[in-house]
Amino acid sequence: MDKQLHQTLARYFGYHAFKEGQEDIIQSVLHQKDTVAMLPTGGGKSLCYQIPGYLTDGLVLIISPLLSLMEDQVERMKMRGEKRVAALNSTLSFREKQQIIRHLPSYKFLFVAPEALMSEVLLEQLKSMQIGLFVVDEAHCISEWGHDFRPEYSKLGEWREAFGHPVALALTATATKQTLIDTVQTLHLQHPEFHIHSVNRPNIALVKEVHDTKEAKEKRAIELADTLQGPGLIYCPTRQMTEDIAQLVKQQTHERVEFYHGGMDAGDRMLIQQQFINGQIDLICCTSAFGMGIDKSDIRFVIHMSPPQSIEAFMQEIGRAGRDGQASVSVLMYTEEDADIQRHLIQTEGFEDSELDFFLAQLKQMPTIDEKKLREQLMEAGLQETRARMLTHYYLMYQAGPSQLLRKEVKEKLQDRQTEKVRKVRQFQERIVDRSCFRQSLLSYFDEQLDQKESSSSQHCCSSCGLVLSEYEKKDQQLELNEMKHWKTVLDRMFHRTKEAQH
Ligand SMILES: Nc1ncnc2c1ncn2[C@@H]1O[C@H](COP(=O)(O)OP(=O)(O)OP(=O)(O)O)[C@@H](O)[C@H]1O
Ligand SMILES: [Mg+2]
Ligand SMILES: [Zn+2]
Repeated sequence: MDKQLHQTLARYFGYHAFKEGQEDIIQSVLHQKDTVAMLPTGGGKSLCYQIPGYLTDGLVLIISPLLSLMEDQVERMKMRGEKRVAALNSTLSFREKQQIIRHLPSYKFLFVAPEALMSEVLLEQLKSMQIGLFVVDEAHCISEWGHDFRPEYSKLGEWREAFGHPVALALTATATKQTLIDTVQTLHLQHPEFHIHSVNRPNIALVKEVHDTKEAKEKRAIELADTLQGPGLIYCPTRQMTEDIAQLVKQQTHERVEFYHGGMDAGDRMLIQQQFINGQIDLICCTSAFGMGIDKSDIRFVIHMSPPQSIEAFMQEIGRAGRDGQASVSVLMYTEEDADIQRHLIQTEGFEDSELDFFLAQLKQMPTIDEKKLREQLMEAGLQETRARMLTHYYLMYQAGPSQLLRKEVKEKLQDRQTEKVRKVRQFQERIVDRSCFRQSLLSYFDEQLDQKESSSSQHCCSSCGLVLSEYEKKDQQLELNEMKHWKTVLDRMFHRTKEAQH
């Protein structure tokens, strides 16, 4: 036990013991070793860069994928009294960004989206500073097949070198072996230390429910929202559905509900997230735009209207629940058509031959090779953002070769990507229809065996192991129900008596 570490833990965070894995990860970083760490959702990964930050010189640069996540982290650190923290992201005005960049030396912790590092001004300023620690949070996003297509992640290794090769720390809750390998390569890590822990979250009970129709799922979602102990999240596959379900829940229950998706104004999104964290909202109907990394301690249930596109995404999303360690539940609803719908969605991300030719021709005519500008021009030509990102990226990768080859290579890359996505959907689907223990089945995807000693008792494990969902219902509702029953009995008796009296 390291006294200095424990003092820092107590002084800055008010905790008296490390959670599993934290101390070793921190030690590894403090010994200047590049470190790859996997701790479960809610396992306390943020502390693994914050404590080294307090104990070493230089800026802690944290690469973080989502706006909502950055805001949550910055808020939390500020609430604990840390003033030297900022996030550079797309919600800031040009002037606000300039302000932060100009005053960089006065910050200790800086959160940035990888896209923000495309800015020359920021890169130059960072190069001139001492960076003590280079953190990649949610490092599974690094993988080319990661949760969304983010070409800037592939440049992180170069950027790190440009910053004078600071110690790197890659953090994730959901990486397969392949993703870990991608991480090491992309970040140019040399002889990293690996600290890999279980992805299991024993306090989250796992329920699967098969339904016949979308309407049946909606009806069930409202019932669950009404009866399960909150606060809760309902993950929906589309933006429209988040609005529809929120509306239905509002009409039919007493829950305070809002919806949240990527099509909303960033200010509105932040407001809703904050109100939820403060307990002014009981339930959020959201798309996958909400979630990863968000730390609200007392979320009691997470409902999925249909399976997300990968096991990693599912583990991330249910991982919002039970971060206080208390019993929580995940309910995954599905119909037999869900996987087909997903496959169809993935197909629409691809390109028809003629379309591919058209956009490649457009790219060739553009005078610049600036990735961002090319992408913007493609979007102006009518291409949706993710597709524009993919196409530009692969175009730049292969543009040096002859044009026939370029077309072939780009096409192959795009197809590989679709195949991989479809594979992920299938891998999840197989586990959903499987009747054995769902928890074990999910863990096997990460090459992990369920540790019997540590596993939750079967009645809190999963619906295949005999879980009792009623244990997760509202307690006060239970009381109300009981009270109603009580009054019903009283009324029945009175009624009975009156009837008797009439006779
Ligand atoms: N040593 C500790 N003792 C008690 N609580 C802790 C400790 N370390 C972290 N926590 C708390 O655990 C919660 C989860 O931490 P954190 O958000 O860092 O998790 P995470 O591993 O990043 O999860 P995710 O993968 O979902 O991002 C936070 O509220 C944090 O304050
Ligand atoms: Mg986190
Ligand atoms: Zn089970």
